[in-house]
Parts: sequence; structure tokens; C-alpha cells
Amino acid sequence: MKPTRRPANPCFSSGPCAKRPGWSPDALAGALLGRSHRSAIGLARLVEIIERSRALLQMPADYRLGIVPASDTGAVEIALWSLLGARGVDVLAWENFGEGWVTDLTQQLKLRDLRVLEAPYGQLPDLAAVDPDRDTVFVWNGTTAGVRVPNGDWIASDRKGLTICDATSAAFAMRLPWPKLDVVTWSWQKALGGEAAHGMLALSPRAVERLESYTPPWPLPKIFRLTSKGKLIEGIFRGETINTPSMLCVEDAIDSLRWAERVGGLDALVARAEGNLAAVAAWVEHTPWLRFLAEDPATRSCTSIQLAITEPWFTALPEEARFKIVRSMTARLEAEGAGYDLASHRASPPGIRIWAGATVEQSDVEALLPWLDWAWGEERDAAKAK
Ligand SMILES: Cc1ncc(COP(=O)(O)O)c(C=O)c1O
Repeated sequence: MKPTRRPANPCFSSGPCAKRPGWSPDALAGALLGRSHRSAIGLARLVEIIERSRALLQMPADYRLGIVPASDTGAVEIALWSLLGARGVDVLAWENFGEGWVTDLTQQLKLRDLRVLEAPYGQLPDLAAVDPDRDTVFVWNGTTAGVRVPNGDWIASDRKGLTICDATSAAFAMRLPWPKLDVVTWSWQKALGGEAAHGMLALSPRAVERLESYTPPWPLPKIFRLTSKGKLIEGIFRGETINTPSMLCVEDAIDSLRWAERVGGLDALVARAEGNLAAVAAWVEHTPWLRFLAEDPATRSCTSIQLAITEPWFTALPEEARFKIVRSMTARLEAEGAGYDLASHRASPPGIRIWAGATVEQSDVEALLPWLDWAWGEERDAAKAK
């Protein structure tokens, strides 16, 4: 039966993610358009993003946080290019974004002492194999697999290497164990529903020490440079961005951070995302046609929830045919205004992906689920009629 109730906000994309509840363009009315980001008032806005983010994420006082170019990708690549090569590197990959960092390290930086620890979609690599004497590069939440690391217990407190963590689909929805992380990156377009623009780069004191004591052998473009004459450019971590930010996106980022504070800060953001995951899990439990792609419940993402369709007639089809069915199903949902952008990423197994981060209301997730049952029923009937 076709449901009658639709989600109030049908946006379930894994990036850009749903705007915060109640958002409208009015939130941007105070944007400093046409003003310099280096004016006192412009700089204050950038500092506000840094300070509100630090406080919300409960970042240690001795960590630096800067706004950098090119969203999360920019933040991660600045870290990889600036820090790696000083010692051996372990890179973890279990889905598309981790695999992207592997490509950077093998084909671009051509690191000689590199170990790639991989796992198929749905699983994590062997975290116990990570060597604390080496640098480690990993994503906290694998957005295209819906698999996250369960915690930071596998990271040694007395490690010699640095941990570089792409946390873009985790920050503001999952707790990050700061003392275990030397570099943490994210973008505005993810869990707080901001706009894609600049990235955020957090550095531990040990990461800064590496920057000031090691010069990589490869060239660094201007937008990657964090040091000058062997010293950290402290201004970058006080709002003096390397290049020009969009003051419209800045205003929007501030709006999202203020909303996050209003709803109760990090505890509330985590509770909202975990509540959404619990709602999906309760439905999956009595839904025979799918399962979580994440095999271990402890690794199920509470932001990018990835579901695998299990009916034998479907799983027996070649990948292309399965993607076709998934796209047809998600097109039905879109045409109904019941849910947008629910197909799994093109690099992952064909299935359904529901973004369930803090900006998504649980009532909207609950309203979506019967629509998924309906759309799948339509696809099954269409396939059987062929
Ligand atoms: C884990 C992860 N890393 C990197 C990115 C790239 O982020 P951006 O497009 O903001 O640079 C994404 C985007 O979905 C992601 O999920």
C-alpha cells in the first residue's frame, strides 16, 4: 500500500546533507556580502566558526583548528602532502573515500614505505594490524559503505606515528577521541547541513611539531602550505584563511553551529543521529528484503546508513542491472516527494543509503521507511511482470 504521510523534509543525501530543521534563506540575511574577509568584522566571522566548532566538538585547548580551501578533500590532502614521508605509513580503506586516499599515497605521493590495509564493503580492515610506529591514514566513517570504526581503542596512546583522520561524515554526529587523533578533517556540507566550500583542519601539538621539523620532498602548492620558514603559519588557525572564503557559506556555517548549540550541543547531536539509526534498525529487523551492509552492528554508521537488498532474484542479477533497479526505485521516491538521493554511491554495492545525521529529524526517517517498502514492492512487481 502506498503510504500517505511524507517526510516533512525529504532530503536524505549524504552530501550536501539536509539543512537544519527550520532553515530558510533568511538565516543568511546578515551575511557580510561584498566585505573583505580580512576586515575586522569579516575576520571575526571566521574566528566565530573556529571557536564555536572547537567548543561544540570539545576539542583540547592545545589543538589548532583552521579553515582551509577545498572542503574536506582539501583539508585531507593538505595534511597528506604536508606531513607524510617522514616515516612509514599505514592507510586503511574499506570504501570509496579511503580508497581515494590510497590512490593519493600510491600514485601521487608515491610513498615507498606504505602498507595498505583493506577490507571489502561491509567490513573493516584488521585494526589490530595498525603499527603505532607508523603514520596512520583512515576515515572515521566510511560514507559509501555505512561502516565506521567503533571507537579509538585500537589507536595507541604512546604512538610514535601520527593519526590522520578524515572525519567528515562523523564530526558532529559521533564522538571523536581527540587524544588519539593528530589530524582531524571535515567540511561544512556534511553533518550540520552547511554549504560546500572550505574545509576544517584540526592539528594536535604533535602534528604541528612534525610540520615544523620535517620538509616533504615534493612541491606544495600555495593552498597546501601551512608553514613559512619552518614555522607554522599561526594566522591560518586564527581565521586568516589562505585564500578567499565565501562569506555567504561562512554565514551559513555559523547558523548551523548556533543551531547545534541550541539543540543541546554534541550530546544532543550524537543522540539525534543515533536515534535515527535506531529507528532504521528497528525497521530493518522486521523487513525481510534488506539488511545493513555493515556486518558488525558495532560498526554501523549513524550518519550514512547503507542497506543491502537481499532478495535472491535481485542478488542474482549483474551489478549494472541491480543499480538500474535501485535507481528506478529511488526515482519513484523522488517523483513522490517522499525521499531524495537514496541510491547507494556508484562505487559501492547497489543498495539504499539514508543520511541520518543530526540535521535529519527522526520523524522524517520514520515517515520515509514505509515509502521504501512501497517502492521496493513496485520494483519487485515490475521485475516479476517482465
Ligand atoms: C569520508 C569522506 N571523505 C571525503 C569526502 C569528500 O568531501 P568534500 O566533497 O566535502 O571534499 C566525503 C564526501 O562525501 C566523504 O564522505
